Amino acid sequence: MIRRTAFITIWIMTALISFTVYSEDLSLLPWPMEVQSQTGFYAPSIHTSVYISEDTEALRWLGGRLCDMLASAIPEQKPKLLEASQAAPKDAIVLRMMPSSLGDEGYTLDVTEQGIQIQAPTPAGLLYGVQTLGQLLQPTVSPHGIPCVRIKDQPRFQWRGLMLDCSRTFQSLDYLRKTIDRMAMYKMNVLHLHLTDDQGWRLEIKRYPELTRKGARFPEKYKQPDAYHGFYTQEDMRALVKYGQQRNVTIVPEIELPGHSLAILSCYPELPCTGGPFEIYPFFEGDHITRDIACAGNEKTFEFFENVFSEVVAVFPSAFIHIGGDEAPKDRWEACSKCQARIKEEGLKNTHELQSYFVKRIEDILTKHNRRLIGWDEILEGGLAPNASVMNWRGVENGKAAASMGHDVVMSPTTHCYFDYTYERISSEHAYSFNPIPEGLSDAQKKHIIGIQANFWSHIDRTPARTDAQLFPRLLAIAERAWSPKEQTSWPDFYRRQQQQIPILQVSGVVSYDETKP
Ligand code: ACM
Ligand code: ZN
Repeated sequence: MIRRTAFITIWIMTALISFTVYSEDLSLLPWPMEVQSQTGFYAPSIHTSVYISEDTEALRWLGGRLCDMLASAIPEQKPKLLEASQAAPKDAIVLRMMPSSLGDEGYTLDVTEQGIQIQAPTPAGLLYGVQTLGQLLQPTVSPHGIPCVRIKDQPRFQWRGLMLDCSRTFQSLDYLRKTIDRMAMYKMNVLHLHLTDDQGWRLEIKRYPELTRKGARFPEKYKQPDAYHGFYTQEDMRALVKYGQQRNVTIVPEIELPGHSLAILSCYPELPCTGGPFEIYPFFEGDHITRDIACAGNEKTFEFFENVFSEVVAVFPSAFIHIGGDEAPKDRWEACSKCQARIKEEGLKNTHELQSYFVKRIEDILTKHNRRLIGWDEILEGGLAPNASVMNWRGVENGKAAASMGHDVVMSPTTHCYFDYTYERISSEHAYSFNPIPEGLSDAQKKHIIGIQANFWSHIDRTPARTDAQLFPRLLAIAERAWSPKEQTSWPDFYRRQQQQIPILQVSGVVSYDETKP
C-alpha cells in the first residue's frame, strides 16, 4: 500500500512538473515585478475569442492586435473580437479596464486552463499585459500552449526612453515607426527625437519655410546620399504621434538651443552674433561643434523661438519639450556687444548666467503653453530654470545635484547609455550593470530620478541597418533597467532571456549585432 501511494505521488508530481513551465524558464523581457508559475496550459483553439470591456478606439485597436498575435498560434482561424455589448464567454481572453493599485502602466495577467484575464486601469496597462502575453505565446516557451501563470507588473520608472538623432542623419518615417514598434515590444515609452542641430533642421515650421527648404539639405558639394537629407511635415509628425500613442510611446521633440544651431543660423542670418553667411555641413567635414550660436542679446532670437515653439506644441502633445542646451561654446557671446549689453542689463555675472537667462526665457514660453522644459545637463551651469528638468549625460553627478534641488532627472550617461559608442566600450553586460540612482540621495530626492534613456547620435552609423546594430541587442538591457524592479540584476539570467529575443527581433527585421563574436 505504502509503495503504491509513493508510486502514485511520484506519478502525479512528474505529471505536474511536465505541465508547469517554471518562471526561470520563461523568456519574459523586461522581467515583470511578480511572476507565479501555475500548473497547466491555456491552449488557444479555433473557439478562442478576445473580449474587450469597453468599446473605445484604443481597446478595439488593442483587441485587434491581440487577435493578430493569436492568429499565428492558431493557423486555421483568426480569433473573433467581442465587444463590451456582448457577454464574455468563459474561455475568452479578456482585456478589462478596471482600477488597480499598480499605477497607470501596471497590469495583472492571469493565465488559467479555462481562460485569460488581463486587467489594468488604462489602455497602456492593457497593452503591456498583451505584450507580456505575446512573449508567453512564443513557440519556444512551450509546445502545449500558453503556460498558466499569474503576473502582477508595473514599471520602475515612468520615463523609459530612446533618443534618435534625426539631424546628423535624417531618419525615415518608416524607420521611426519600426523603432516605436520595437520599443513597445520591450515596454519603452519615450521616443526623443533630436530634430535640429548644426547638420540639419528636420521639422516643418510654417512661419519659417527656409528652415526646411535650405536647412534640411546639405549643399551639393558634399555629395551626400539622398537618404541622409529630408524633413518631416507637421502632418507626418501628427501621424507619428498617433502611431506612438497607440503603442504608449510618447514622442518628445528636441529643438536645440542656443548652440548646435547652425541650421537655423544658415537660414536666418540675423540670428547669430556675427552676420555669417553660414551653411550646414556633414559632421566630419568641419568643426564637430560649431562655434556660432544664437545671439542672446537680440530680441529677434526669442521671437524666433517663441514662434517655433508655438508650432511645435501644436504638433506634439508631450508634457515635456526638450530644448537641448548642451555644448554651447561661449566665444561669440563673449565678443558680442549685444550679448554683453544683455549681461549688464540683467545683472548677470558671465556668459554661463547668460545661458541660464536664455533657458529661463524659453521656459516662460513653454510654461505659457502648459509644457515642461527638459534639457541636457549643461542647463545647470549658471543656475537652473525654476521648473526645468534635466537629462543627465555627463556622469551622474549633475543629475544627482538637480535631484537634490527637487528637479526631475532622466539619467542617460555616456558611461552606459550612449549606443553610438562601440560594443567594446559599452557591451550589453555593461549597459545592464547601470545603476541610475546615485548614492547619497534621500528617498524623496530619489523620486526625482524619473527614468533612464539610451541615446543614439547618427554621425557615424548612418543607415537603418547600422543604427539597428548599434541599438540591438543592448537596448534590451536599458529596457529592463527602466522597467524591472531594482533587485532584478542577474546578468546570466538576463543574458539567457536576451538571447531568446534575438531571433524574434530578427523576424521583425532587426539587424542585431552579434556580441558573441570576438
Ligand atoms: C550630448 O551628448 N552632447 C548631449
Ligand atoms: Zn550676441
